[in-house]
Amino acid sequence: MKFFADTSDIDAIKDLADCGMLDGVTTNPSIIAKSGREFIPLIEEICGICAGPVSAEVASTDFETMMKEGEKLAKIADNIAVKVPLTEAGLKVCKNLSEGGTMVNVTLCFSPLQALLAAKAGATFISPFVGRLDDIAQNGMDLIGDILTIYDQYPDFHTEVLVASVRHPAHILESARMGADVVTCPPSVIKQLYKHPLTDKGLAGFVEDWKKTGQSIL
Ligand code: G3P
Repeated sequence: MKFFADTSDIDAIKDLADCGMLDGVTTNPSIIAKSGREFIPLIEEICGICAGPVSAEVASTDFETMMKEGEKLAKIADNIAVKVPLTEAGLKVCKNLSEGGTMVNVTLCFSPLQALLAAKAGATFISPFVGRLDDIAQNGMDLIGDILTIYDQYPDFHTEVLVASVRHPAHILESARMGADVVTCPPSVIKQLYKHPLTDKGLAGFVEDWKKTGQSIL
């Protein structure tokens, strides 16, 4: 399963890359607004660090302007995935950009039938938002299961299921159990995966016992 970082924090992206835990990066307008940085130079910088797909989202909602924005974003680097909303106009942009060889990430997916449409439009990635469904008392991971089941029926579909709006490690565990292709998470959630109290306790014991030997490996 691939790990994408759902952030524009350059230090966090570099840190995950150094640890071998970075397969891609996703951004959205809210993440860009939070960064306080100019969009295009920021995406260029991220593409220089991350060799995998880097999602950059269009800002408009009408077909013509989204197409122009998508074409401009796609020129930033070979690893750009243009992110478009799951609307009729967004999927039309998806179809056109995909046919031209551009990777497209279809975002704001909240139903299996929306995911079916995205696959038919040639999306490279579909981004179902599990956390936001949990927030309204629906089960976000049920949506992932439904999409995987549907996509499995049709070998012609090549759209990868990119689990988004991930809030905690349990979302990642369930995604891995189900065989989702990608999870995109805040770096802090990926960092949580390293942690286990028995690892900390066991290591403290080994360090103490090693001291007793009076030896040094180096
Ligand atoms: O980038 C899309 C998605 O991951 C956003 O997550 O936490 O704003 O629901 P969140």
